[in-house]
Amino acid sequence: MNRIMMFILLVTVTGIQAETKPEKAIGSQLPDAIRSLLIEEMQAINTGMSKILTGLVSADYELVAQQAQAIHDSFIMAQKMTDEQRQVLKKTLPTAFIEKDKAFHQLSAQLAEAARAGNSQQQLQYFQSMQSACVACHQQHATDRFPDFLQ
Ligand code: HEC
Repeated sequence: MNRIMMFILLVTVTGIQAETKPEKAIGSQLPDAIRSLLIEEMQAINTGMSKILTGLVSADYELVAQQAQAIHDSFIMAQKMTDEQRQVLKKTLPTAFIEKDKAFHQLSAQLAEAARAGNSQQQLQYFQSMQSACVACHQQHATDRFPDFLQ
């Protein structure tokens, strides 16, 4: 095998590893005060998701819209953080995390929209996509809190 082929093989193999390996658990890297805000936000999201399920199974789309919008708007972290904490966060969070967070919040806006339009099929699809987004982010970034993902 010549050197170039060897190089390509190496890049490919390490590239695949980088994708499957949990990227970066962020919990333990955050200062306690910021981690507490993140946990607070997660608990609010968790409660919101169960209320959305109640709305979906009872065709209470107003409840779905309201809760999905609240998840979208609930930047507890952003609201409560000082400028200094914001700087720390910027340095600590990997781009992959920020992208997942953005995509997740976008889905909640889409769910709210579908609920306002009364489209039950779309609501289910977005709700399911949100659930997948929880798991995808936790697998990569929440393994300090949920180490069972590493098994
Ligand atoms: C962009 C990333 C991301 C997304 C999306 C995300 N989470 Fe999290 N979540 C985290 C991280 C990181 C932690 C762990 C923080 C730590 O280590 O303390 C966490 C922790 C939690 C916790 C534990 C809180 C506690 O009491 O310690 C719950 C519950 C939770 N998330 C629910 C959800 C639900 C439900 C969704 C989807 C509807 C979701 N999360 C989506 C990143 C995310």
